[in-house]
Amino acid sequence: MAKDDFESLRSEAEKKSTGWTNPRVIALLLVAISCAAILCTTLTFFLHPDQTVDGDVPPFEPLPTDPDEMTIVERINCYPDRNAGEAERICLARGCEWQPTVVDGAPYCFFPRGHGTYRLVLEQEHTWGMRLTLERETYTPSFFGQDIQTLTLDIEFQSRNRLHFKFYDASKPRFEVPIPLPPRPNEGAINTDYAITYTARPFTIKITRKSTGEILWDTSIGALIFEDQFLSISTRLPSSNLYGFGESEHRSFKHDMNWRTWGLFARDQPPGDNINLYGVHPFYMNVEYGGNAHGVLFFNLNAQDFTVQPTPALTYRTVGGILDFYMFLGPTPDHVIQQYTELVGRPMIPPYWALGYHLSRYGYENLDNLQKVVASMREYDIPHDVQYSDIDYMKRNLDFTLDEENFGGLGEFVESIKAEGTRYIIMLDPAISANETGYEPYDLGVDNDVFIKDEFGDLRYGKVWPDYPNITVNSSVDWDTGVRLFRAYAVFPDYRKQATKDWWIDQITKFKEIINFDGLWLDMNEPANFVHGSVDGCSENIYDLPPYVPRISGGGPIYDKTICMNSVQQLDDNRKENHYNMHSLYGWSQTIPTVDAVQQLTGMRSLVVTRSTVPSSGTNSGHWLGDNGSNWPQLRYSIIGTLEFNLFGVPHVGADICGFFNDSPEDLCRRWHQVGAFYPYARNHNGIRYQAQDPGSYGEEFAVSIRELLHIRYRMLPYLYTLFYDAHTQGSTVVRSLMHEFTHDSHTWGIDRQFMWGSALLISPVLEEDTTVVRAYFPQARWYDYYEGMEISVENLEVAGGIDLVAPRDVVPLHFRGGYIIPTQQPHNCTKFSRLNPFGLIVPLDESMEAAGDLFWDDGDSIDTVENGDYYLMRYIFSRHILTSSFIHVPTNHPTALFENLALDDITIYGLETEPSVVKFNGGALDASSFEFKAETKVLSVKSLDHPMTDVFTLAIEFSESP
Ligand code: NOJ
Repeated sequence: MAKDDFESLRSEAEKKSTGWTNPRVIALLLVAISCAAILCTTLTFFLHPDQTVDGDVPPFEPLPTDPDEMTIVERINCYPDRNAGEAERICLARGCEWQPTVVDGAPYCFFPRGHGTYRLVLEQEHTWGMRLTLERETYTPSFFGQDIQTLTLDIEFQSRNRLHFKFYDASKPRFEVPIPLPPRPNEGAINTDYAITYTARPFTIKITRKSTGEILWDTSIGALIFEDQFLSISTRLPSSNLYGFGESEHRSFKHDMNWRTWGLFARDQPPGDNINLYGVHPFYMNVEYGGNAHGVLFFNLNAQDFTVQPTPALTYRTVGGILDFYMFLGPTPDHVIQQYTELVGRPMIPPYWALGYHLSRYGYENLDNLQKVVASMREYDIPHDVQYSDIDYMKRNLDFTLDEENFGGLGEFVESIKAEGTRYIIMLDPAISANETGYEPYDLGVDNDVFIKDEFGDLRYGKVWPDYPNITVNSSVDWDTGVRLFRAYAVFPDYRKQATKDWWIDQITKFKEIINFDGLWLDMNEPANFVHGSVDGCSENIYDLPPYVPRISGGGPIYDKTICMNSVQQLDDNRKENHYNMHSLYGWSQTIPTVDAVQQLTGMRSLVVTRSTVPSSGTNSGHWLGDNGSNWPQLRYSIIGTLEFNLFGVPHVGADICGFFNDSPEDLCRRWHQVGAFYPYARNHNGIRYQAQDPGSYGEEFAVSIRELLHIRYRMLPYLYTLFYDAHTQGSTVVRSLMHEFTHDSHTWGIDRQFMWGSALLISPVLEEDTTVVRAYFPQARWYDYYEGMEISVENLEVAGGIDLVAPRDVVPLHFRGGYIIPTQQPHNCTKFSRLNPFGLIVPLDESMEAAGDLFWDDGDSIDTVENGDYYLMRYIFSRHILTSSFIHVPTNHPTALFENLALDDITIYGLETEPSVVKFNGGALDASSFEFKAETKVLSVKSLDHPMTDVFTLAIEFSESP
């Protein structure tokens, strides 16, 4: 840490303190003063008035003025337990207050003001920051027992805009998330954007943005609890503009702060209201009322929940690990995500083909059906970059087998469509069936000891897909009975073991001989289990029956739909760990060797799509939003999920286009494609036995409409790819909200029906049935309609409720933002061919008649092209009516090969003042037939340039009269 800075913060804090409030003095005093609990409580007030810092605090949203009401919004729940029995008695026994209220959602049981659990006893300076020692107050009642008496709080000033603070037990190591993070940055003297102040008794901490005085965290609102299996901390938030936390299906991007509690714990769970889903991302972003943004990662993946309330305030509760936080000071939303992904890892750049259109379904049933669907894609010439096979390609859903009866010949078919440019992805599930005879994945797995064990060292058995071999299934029984009677035992690979990684890679390698896939799709890796805990349930133990079960769905035990929490797994080379701690990391641990396997085997940057994700998953994989339904509300929520995963550093994300469960009506599927064409990961996937929803299945008119729509996506793929380069190199989001770009415009804070590709393209889709009108908001900027180039008129900007756009059933309203140049390429039916087509540039001008943009271009699928320098980065700048191109980076190896035979053909400029008289390209005047100016839209189109991409150029526009 920066010593100077620490000193300045200290003196800042000390200046505001009386001698009595100086933490150093307090530490000495605490040693000297021995007093009865009652006297201590009284002294607390005199000893430790809250410290403050100077600064211009921007206006806050007013809190209710009625004092009673105000107390209620400040209540921090002291009885979050699920079991309502004896609530009042337990509440009072916890030293809390009980007061029923009519305010919906507000707790009856709450911490009294100044409720003290820990006091500061020691403060030490370190080169990296400070270490505080906290002692638990002896008079404070426990929640569930096993309190940690002495806590250590390390506050690391990691960089100017990144703060790390963690509460832990220095006397006994506790579980910490094993996701590797980069070493603590050593920036030397840091002039941090944040200041820390704290009170000693009760111990509370405040984090302030120095530049505005805005208080970003203030734990004085609640209690700090650190027990073995119940840890909790609360903080006031500077604003109720709270975004993120997942994975859950949120009904609004900006959180509903009205006393909502959300559980986080990886779960095989179709999206629905207030349910924890497949992955865990305890990361939020808050937009302060002054327009600055900051983010916080709670680096803990145990079963947990968090409550938001209108104060605004936030309470975290977890059942294990430590209280470990990182704060990112932004100050813009994109800075926050850049800083966040600098910590957890920058997103991968998907192979170029992975940005094309993907087609999938569960239940093709046989090769013939699959071939017909692919043939229909070809017949209608619909862009089709990736085709999938779900578990039904497998023999009885067994990993690493092929159903020869129904899918014999799949291997050859895959080769044939690959020759046409379509890539192939197949599914793998983690659970391995244990009831087969001569099933190599199981037999070798047992020989190599790769599966998770129970507490006695025996295999932990659950049940997932396959039924027992050679049985007749009675499908009239209910689901649970069917699972019990007919499903085979299954075991779960322990992917943290080297032996397991080797075994998994070996199985994948062998299977690639049978199906020459290009990528893998990892499903059910929460891990899902169709019996709860194991085939025999779970024993009575502190992990499966923890004293506090967070608000995770199922309402049942913590092991609901997964394996017992006392299952034993490998943590690292030397240590074992309970599933209790490792649960939500399962998908992450499976993804790592899978990515290694496909990259080794293909020698290429492959695609692995995983259902369960955690912080850092975006570094190596993509994600789909799970088993949604074919309904209009879930079409809308898919935008929120996509925006959130971009905050989580997993930008290659999208929902199942047209929905997974139920039949998708034609109008829904059409509108869903209009949204899905702008998911970074655009895959149409359908559930088993539902009506087909591939584009050809609704007839020619529909297919043509989808083809034209996908051509828009394909046309702008160079821009999308460049956004992934930005994500990979700087950590920027790919898809983002209007709030992200126009943070100072408070109207944008709650908008989640529109979304953007980078800074340049605004998508305002139709999300309701039977309508051809969309209400869209346009923040202050120049905006141009994608189709005709018409500019949104000034009086329609910043209209609070938005303006109505007409969107006939085949049209998705799209607008370019002035100032940002978009590289394009003429579309084709897959990226193998579109990558050979001529490039173009769209140049929408801003208020100063300027624009700029980049193009990232590599070979599309080699590994580490950025790290190896094997790419072009072009910059285009339009200023003073001249467009110029320049190379920011040329490939280190084979400089011209990447752009060989590629040409720039067309340039379209939006928003010129008046008709040009002359257009010069590289100094020579273009012939009048090579360009066209439309007076009504003020769009200039220059065509057929056929200019080699390897050369720079200038395009100059001249006017007969100065515009
Ligand atoms: C659940 C997955 O979420 C879904 O996409 C898949 O089709 C089914 N499992 C069957 O494998």
